[in-house]
Amino acid sequence: MPEQQTARLFFALWPDDEVRRQLWVLSRTLGEVSRHSGKPVAVHNLHLTLAFLGAVNHAMRCCVEQAAARVEAPPFEITLDCAGYWGRPRIQWAGCEHTPAALQQLVEALNQQLGSCGYQPERREFAPHVTLRRKSRPLPRSVVVDPITWKATDFCLVQSVSAVQGVEYRVLRRWALGRGGGSQ
Ligand code: 2AM
Repeated sequence: MPEQQTARLFFALWPDDEVRRQLWVLSRTLGEVSRHSGKPVAVHNLHLTLAFLGAVNHAMRCCVEQAAARVEAPPFEITLDCAGYWGRPRIQWAGCEHTPAALQQLVEALNQQLGSCGYQPERREFAPHVTLRRKSRPLPRSVVVDPITWKATDFCLVQSVSAVQGVEYRVLRRWALGRGGGSQ
């Protein structure tokens, strides 16, 4: 990446193909129960954001990659067992009734390490979610979600690229969760 150029980056958990498939099924169900409202996030773009960085230059990218390599957090399991709607971004999402302690720990460790790059974490409490549909209408109150079990074994640095056919998220790098972590 040229030194002056910026890229729109974020850290995320990236689902495996089976979790992605189940999220896609849920996305279709939410579309149906809300009268086909909104635009589904493309199946290959589905993810759970850990920290949003925004436009990042080359020096910052090097810094955040080094920061990510210092994160120590164990692998964990998340159960996506609820769906919701946020009116301001107009998104329908999949989330979990109980945030796993290890997920909270990962976000806190990442935010702490990113602090050395000048990153200011969100002030809002971390609300883990996978956005399924954008520009959507609210959901009816009772949507029953078949729980989706997701084993998180690594986290990623992702680039958001605008293309003619819409936004595309590209995984740039992955770090294993577990003792000592390490780039893959
Ligand atoms: P969202 O799914 O709730 O919209 C890439 O844009 C990812 O970063 C999305 O998952 C988005 O969350 C998340 N994100 C967090 N803060 C953001 C911000 N201020 N602007 C754009 N995306 C943001």
